[in-house]
Amino acid sequence: MTKLGVNIDHSATVRQARYRDSDESEVVVEPSIIDVALAAERGGADSITVHLREDRRHIQDSDVFGLRRAISTKLNLEMACTPEITQIARQIVPDYVCLVPENRMEVTTEGGLNIAGSPQKVEKTVAALSEKNIVCSIFIDPDLSQIKLAKQIGAPMVELHTGAYANAWKNPQKKKAELERISRAAEYADSLGLIVNSGHGINYLNVRELLAVARFNELNIGHTIISRAIIAGMGTAVREMKELLK
Ligand code: PXP
Repeated sequence: MTKLGVNIDHSATVRQARYRDSDESEVVVEPSIIDVALAAERGGADSITVHLREDRRHIQDSDVFGLRRAISTKLNLEMACTPEITQIARQIVPDYVCLVPENRMEVTTEGGLNIAGSPQKVEKTVAALSEKNIVCSIFIDPDLSQIKLAKQIGAPMVELHTGAYANAWKNPQKKKAELERISRAAEYADSLGLIVNSGHGINYLNVRELLAVARFNELNIGHTIISRAIIAGMGTAVREMKELLK
C-alpha cells in the first residue's frame, strides 16, 4: 500500500499568525505542532513532514527537534541545499530529508529542484546527509533528465512534483498529459532503482487518478489534510466553547 506522509507546515502557519513574537513561557501557544503530529499518527500517517524554511515562516528549529523526540513514525524534513539547514539536519538526524528549491517570495514550493542548475551543491548536500545515514530524497519535476541526474549524484529517492497535474484538474487534455508525464517519470525512476514518492497539490479529489497511473512508495500531502481537519473539527471546537459559555 502507498504510504502517507502528512505535511503539517500549515498548522505552524496558524500558530505563527498569532504567536510569532510571543514568549512561550507566558502564554498558551496553540496549536501545538507536536499534538498535531501525534493526531496525524493516530489517524494512520506513516510519516510526518515539515519544511524548515530559511525564513522560518512556519516551522521553527525547536519544532523539528521536538518532533524528532515525540513522534513514533518517520520524520521527513524538507529543506533547501544550504549549509545552515544542512548543519541543523545533521544534528536532528531525521529519517528522511527531501531537498527542495526555496524562493523567499513564493507562498509554497512552486517547482521541483533543478539539479542541473547546481549539481555540485546538491551532490555535496546529499553526501553530507547520507554520511549521517539520513535517506536523501530530491523534489523534482517529473522530468527524465532530472531523474537521471538525481541517480547520478547518489540520491536513493526522489519525490515527483505533482503540482502541474493538480493545476490541470479542470482541463482534461492537460490533466491526461500530466498524468502520462508522471507515469513515465515514475517508471523510469523505478527502473533506475530509485524509491519514488510524489507530492504537492494532491487532494481528496485528485488522488485516485494519480494512484491509477503509477506506483509510489509514499505520497506527501499537506494543505488538503489541514483544510479537511479544520472542517471536520469545527463542530467539536465550537461545541466546546459553547459549553463554557453556558
Ligand atoms: N512535497 C513537497 C516537497 C512540498 O514542498 C510540499 C509543500 O510543502 C508538499 C509535498 C505538500 O504539498 P501540499 O501542501 O500541496 O499537499
